[in-house]
Amino acid sequence: MAHLNEHYLKLKAGYLFPEIARRVRQFSEEDPEQGKSLVRCGIGDVTEALPPAVIEAMHRAIDELASRETFRGYGPEQGYEFLRHAIAENEYRKRSIDIAEDEIFVSDGSKCDCGNILDIFSHQNRIAVVDPVYPVYVDTNVMVGHTGPADPSGAYEGLVYLPCTKNNGFVPEIPSERVDLVYLCFPNNPTGSVATRGQLECWVNYALSAGAIIFYDAAYESYITEPEIPHSIYEIPGALECAIEFRSFSKNGGFTGVRCGFTVLSKSLMALTSGGKKKALHPLWNRRFSTKFNGVGYPVQRGAQAIYSQVGQAQVRSLIGHYLGNAQILAESMRSTGLEVFGGRNAPYIWVAAPTGYSSWQVFDKLLRDVQVVITPGVGFGVQGEGYFRVSAFNSRENAEEAARRFKKVRW
Ligand code: MLT
Repeated sequence: MAHLNEHYLKLKAGYLFPEIARRVRQFSEEDPEQGKSLVRCGIGDVTEALPPAVIEAMHRAIDELASRETFRGYGPEQGYEFLRHAIAENEYRKRSIDIAEDEIFVSDGSKCDCGNILDIFSHQNRIAVVDPVYPVYVDTNVMVGHTGPADPSGAYEGLVYLPCTKNNGFVPEIPSERVDLVYLCFPNNPTGSVATRGQLECWVNYALSAGAIIFYDAAYESYITEPEIPHSIYEIPGALECAIEFRSFSKNGGFTGVRCGFTVLSKSLMALTSGGKKKALHPLWNRRFSTKFNGVGYPVQRGAQAIYSQVGQAQVRSLIGHYLGNAQILAESMRSTGLEVFGGRNAPYIWVAAPTGYSSWQVFDKLLRDVQVVITPGVGFGVQGEGYFRVSAFNSRENAEEAARRFKKVRW
């Protein structure tokens, strides 16, 4: 009989969002009437239609596929030149960051890349994650065997957890022990915090001196409203030599269902062989892409390119403005009831301290039962998330206003 990958057996319950969906389904089955009036502020999934510029570009691309003369089959695994060029120009060169087109790898999303990147790293690395954390970073390490079992609190043996608390403004401190790989995410999911230039400089200097590599997830960078906050880790000198950046079109262009993102891996980024020799990682990631991936669909890449057109940029700004407007409405409603509220200013997530005496799953259950609003319990993101809950601002304005009204009615 075949043998399974036992590392999967170490994973706790289900992935957070399916678990929430299961509880919500159960509630709706028990009480179908109330189930109908649910307002979902749980998973960070966009609700608004794709920008018209994207739709037009995708329609045009489909038409090209409809005729033999303009038809395209397999594309370059790493992404079409037109999209890699648009990304390099608009995301990096405009910020005076020198990224070559072939250092950009277009993929079906940053969640996949954050997991897939582990393919090119050894099992010897000591890995640090922040706490609370986007569960994908942890679970993908568990799956490939980089951890031992979870303890009763849910923390995995072998991982270094960097607490993000109210005291450090939800930005982790530099670890006191040696780590080789560290996951950072700014604007942060779930806390909505951002890192200042100075804080990112500390991280880059640390990584350069320790020979560590930062996995920098910047999926929410387009929500940054404060001009002094860096959008890319590569705005920090030296970061090309110590960081891999993950980006997404999900939360700016609304591509959560369309699927497109990209990873930037500079040719100057090195890691050690078991013999202690420094080697570039770029050829390995490139090789992985060519072997395990056949590229993102042509119409999708044309759609992503359209995000960078003048009209596309204006449409994206308006979408972001819409979600940030929701964040403001939701944050204010909770603040007005005396809750302590963080984030939501440079991020589509609001991180709220649970009222005294409530665990984060108790808040989840109370909001579901009393006012039929779905949130995400903070503990689902890690031990330090206990005592908090996350409210997603991805919603229609009508639903955000309705959720805000209902938050005000809750008697804690
Ligand atoms: C979230 O709610 O944290 C996100 O939607 C998850 C994701 O982007 O995969």
